[in-house]
Amino acid sequence: MILFGTLFTSSIGRKFLMAVTGLILVGFVTGHLVGNLQIFLPPDQINGYAHFLQGLGPLLWAIRLFLLACVVIHVWAAVALTMESRSARGPEAYGVKKWLRASVASRYMRMSGIVVLAFIIYHLAHFTIGFAGAETFKSNLPHVLLEHDVREFGIPLASAGTEVHDVYSMVFLGFASPLVSLFYMVAVGLLTVHLWHGTESLFQTIGWRNVKWASCLRRFVALYCILYLLGNLAIPGAILSGLLEPAAGTTAADEMIAQP
Ligand code: HEM
Repeated sequence: MILFGTLFTSSIGRKFLMAVTGLILVGFVTGHLVGNLQIFLPPDQINGYAHFLQGLGPLLWAIRLFLLACVVIHVWAAVALTMESRSARGPEAYGVKKWLRASVASRYMRMSGIVVLAFIIYHLAHFTIGFAGAETFKSNLPHVLLEHDVREFGIPLASAGTEVHDVYSMVFLGFASPLVSLFYMVAVGLLTVHLWHGTESLFQTIGWRNVKWASCLRRFVALYCILYLLGNLAIPGAILSGLLEPAAGTTAADEMIAQP
């Protein structure tokens, strides 16, 4: 219990909390990207997958609350650590060069963190609540019937004939707007900057980075971040450029033909 309290009251404890919640959030954004990339498959796939997630009911809410708690703790620890370091001794105590480098990195982390937070709020309004933009309002989108059974890694998610929410069309119509797509692209760019520095330093905090592994870990983090960025840019990029066209017969195809 004392140990648990120290996590919240000492700087090393807060840093640890920030690292662990950061790692959990990296897991979420990676899984979310893999799920979203199903937009490149036939509509049944992403619709069946979203239907499966929505059908988790109380478990989905438990996961949502857990992720929200991670975001709150991560932001709180970041603010607390920033305030602490501001009130600590000035540059002369550590050597100006080292202090400047650290402060530039943490300024990037703060700025990108704030934009990512604003993006998440907008994104929830856009897709989860369906509030931003009448054309993507959830209740305005029809439900569709799955034509095939949907499986993920062999696990059955939904069966043919199930009535599901048309997430496929929602994503297409959401990204048909250049302004919305551009905002997503900038936000995921900044999220990648945040992940890049954050992931490297979280390994250090957790104690998984040593001299032997440092350069290997750095390359792994760089590769992960590049793939993460490309995957995220691919979705709005392919839709906006017309490289990915909505499947015939979907609401997205009908509406995008109506408003070329
Ligand atoms: C191209 C990029 C993205 C696409 C296409 C996308 C798509 C979606 C969709 C369709 C939903 C709603 C699912 C539903 O309610 O049926 C959703 C929810 C969500 N997304 Fe994204 N997303 C993207 C990027 C991101 C990023 C970068 C983050 C985090 C920084 C994020 C965080 C979330 C969260 C927290 C939810 C709410 C999950 C829930 O309902 O419990 N998304 N996303």
